[in-house]
Amino acid sequence: MKKHNFSAGPCILPQDVFKEASQSVLDFNESGLSILEISHRSKDFVDVMDEARSLVLELLQLEGKGYKVLFLQGGASTQFLMTAYNLLENSAGYLNTGTWSTKAIKEAGLFGSINEVASSKDQNFNYIPKGYEISKDLDYFHCTSNNTIFGTQMKAFPTISVPMVCDMSSDIFSRQIDFLQFDLIYAGAQKNLGPAGTTLVVVKEDILGKVSRQIPSMLDYQVHIGKSSMFNTPPAFAVYTSMLTLRWLKAQGGIKAIEELNEKKAQLLYSEIDVNPLFKGFAVEEDRSIMNATFSLINEDLKETFDAMWKEAGINGLNGHRSVGGYRASMYNALTIDSVAVLVDVMSDLERKA
Ligand SMILES: Cc1ncc(COP(=O)(O)O)c(C=O)c1O
Repeated sequence: MKKHNFSAGPCILPQDVFKEASQSVLDFNESGLSILEISHRSKDFVDVMDEARSLVLELLQLEGKGYKVLFLQGGASTQFLMTAYNLLENSAGYLNTGTWSTKAIKEAGLFGSINEVASSKDQNFNYIPKGYEISKDLDYFHCTSNNTIFGTQMKAFPTISVPMVCDMSSDIFSRQIDFLQFDLIYAGAQKNLGPAGTTLVVVKEDILGKVSRQIPSMLDYQVHIGKSSMFNTPPAFAVYTSMLTLRWLKAQGGIKAIEELNEKKAQLLYSEIDVNPLFKGFAVEEDRSIMNATFSLINEDLKETFDAMWKEAGINGLNGHRSVGGYRASMYNALTIDSVAVLVDVMSDLERKA
């Protein structure tokens, strides 16, 4: 039976990527060797890393603009502290839009003073704060473009005079943004990019080297830039599979084409949430994420029936995060609109039955 994977991450990746990656585990580039056993210094792997890096810049339209691309380890969670280690001299501004921003704030607080410019904690993070001030004296401003757990997404970013750092873990490569407005973007790979195990960092080189502290090599962006992400052994399979996903995205028509599809998928599901009297959405309408839709049953008595119905339809990964409850449908790039249609059918079937 076909599965419809709405998991929040690790999550669905394109079937073609799974096929090619699994073939390369057996025989990479007809070399008679597995991608898992070749040296990261071999030409074959260096080519993979180079292609992955250049596809990132091409897809984000950042070629020739002073950005460097890194594939690191330690997840986006390590970036919470690595950004501060490298950039925070005195104070930084943070927009608190959920669990992940809160964690980023906690880690950065170890390195300097944190100015929480605004927070949506008062409403359990169901909206994106707007109209806040960002002082020009800050070392940088940090925000989270998409709040995976709460299903909210920043539709606009502030115009500021200090460097902007953004955690794009759950919506990178999903929509067109002017990426030039960011000085550092980071993302754990395990949503739109590839398998868990590598973290993408895109950094404008000229913001680095300005803090007075000593930085341990593994946490120093300049060290990783100097060694082209090969300061230590890179997570070769995760980088390779990410490169295949980036190739796939380019073949789909890039971010513009995937955004159109993502908008259609989100529109289909949110219309059902709004029209079906059995459900209600969690995030305020104007801030709804096109990647993660959060919603719940109005009458919890229907939970058992609904859960049985979606599981029967082959749907996977629909349970909401414990801090929100209800349901969360993650509709990352590789999820087809047919899968969303299956979920919408189950929701309207429930209405007919109830
Ligand atoms: C927006 C966001 N930031 C950070 C993280 C943490 O990522 P990692 O598990 O790679 O450390 C996640 C994980 O889901 C996330 O969604």
